[in-house]
Amino acid sequence: MEIPSSAIYLALVLVFTLLAGLYRGGRRHKLNLPPGPRPWPVIGNLNLIGPLPYRSLAAISQKHGPLMHLRFGSFPVVVGSSVDMAKFFLKTHDLSFVSRPKTVAGKYTANNYSNINWSPYGPYWRQARRIFIMELFTPKRLDSYQYIRVEEVRGLLRDLFRSTETPIVLKDRIFTVNLNIISRIVLGRKYTQEQSVSSGAPAAIVPQEEFKEMMGELMLLNGVINVGDLIPWLNFLDLQGYVKRMKMVGKRFDRFLEHVLDEHNERRRREGKAFVPRDLVDVLLELADDHGLEVKLERHCLKAFILDMFAGSTDTVTVTIEWAVSEILKRPETFDKATEELDRVIGRGRWVEEEDVHRLPYIEAIVKETMRIHPVAPLLVPRLSREHTTVDGYDIPAGTGVLVNVWAIGRDPAVWDAPEEFRPERFVGSPIDVKGHHFELLPFGAGRRMCPGNSLGLKM
Ligand code: HEM
Repeated sequence: MEIPSSAIYLALVLVFTLLAGLYRGGRRHKLNLPPGPRPWPVIGNLNLIGPLPYRSLAAISQKHGPLMHLRFGSFPVVVGSSVDMAKFFLKTHDLSFVSRPKTVAGKYTANNYSNINWSPYGPYWRQARRIFIMELFTPKRLDSYQYIRVEEVRGLLRDLFRSTETPIVLKDRIFTVNLNIISRIVLGRKYTQEQSVSSGAPAAIVPQEEFKEMMGELMLLNGVINVGDLIPWLNFLDLQGYVKRMKMVGKRFDRFLEHVLDEHNERRRREGKAFVPRDLVDVLLELADDHGLEVKLERHCLKAFILDMFAGSTDTVTVTIEWAVSEILKRPETFDKATEELDRVIGRGRWVEEEDVHRLPYIEAIVKETMRIHPVAPLLVPRLSREHTTVDGYDIPAGTGVLVNVWAIGRDPAVWDAPEEFRPERFVGSPIDVKGHHFELLPFGAGRRMCPGNSLGLKM
């Protein structure tokens, strides 16, 4: 019997459709996700995350291994907790994991993801990073602002010397110095300092205490786990009240930054052709006039970049210095060794200068040891996978959140001797640095998203 060719054709189409369906279905079901705890409906694994998420995740990885898959609400997340996994996410497949998840913090406190930190991967983010690295934080420009750091640190020392008899909150003083340094570098002056109008200096527009409180709120809200980000259908309820606070602090900073931009534009207008950029806001305003840029820099982008610089440099540096001092005070032998090195290399006749740092290996080792044991971003900043990737036979689908637990890596007994002990000696004569090449020590992250302010951060 002869079979009509149309029937053969129809059968073939059917078979291929079925096979393609089976293949797709099979692929979907055969996703081999990394190991991890079983998720609950709705909350996923959020029940396992305590107030210090990096500690909770380090404990969970003891059971499930250095690559884990969890669910934060309905959001899939993978966590890397070893040197190899850090290398996988931040080096070998850096480009696949270079984006950021869209959080409400990025929406309301960073002018709709216009800062670098929350900006998703794309031309805008690439241009913003180029501007930071090639225009704002070039070694030459950083050196040109050295006098500001020197003046502010000397001011702090004078202040501390005067208050030898009175207890002080050191963290507050260090925060103020960092705020003053970054204000003078970025804005050209201390906008937040209360100055008497009669001194002839421009008046502060936000009292310093209020500005500090605003910065604290900004940092806190950018680090919280907001339930609405993870269980989107609950977002409208704002159960923790964070979204309301984000909107409020976003508006308060906006008022401040509008004033800063207006004042800088006014000087540009007044001085006309004679205008010379003095601070980083001036540089940004000049760049915004550049019609050759790949993506036009609007006013809201400049405001977001300015905030990036403040958020990046005040808390991070303050907390690191506070930890270092606290560890030194707990270990008199560290204090003695540091003093001995300073006496031997610098002597008592002059102050330490920035250029001296490389001749002070023990002091440098204290900084590295502090950043190992107390990294200010213990899970770095969350990343987002842009495409399907596989590792050791496991699938990581596109759209998965990625956390690298540098806190756990810094305390991994497979990498460090006596990891819980503060021992700067381990870094004396060691080639390990903090520049993102040694994956056992990543206080600034690594790869394309690595902190672009790391040189300034280290100087501060
Ligand atoms: C001790 C000082 C500092 C530490 C420990 C630190 C640490 C970090 C870390 C861990 C990240 C995330 C990296 C990643 O996602 O893989 C980051 C990102 C960032 N930091 Fe820093 N930082 C410091 C100082 C600064 C300074 C001084 C600035 C600017 C003035 C700055 C601006 C930024 C920006 C804009 C990003 C976002 C980069 C991006 O998403 O592409 N940081 N920083």
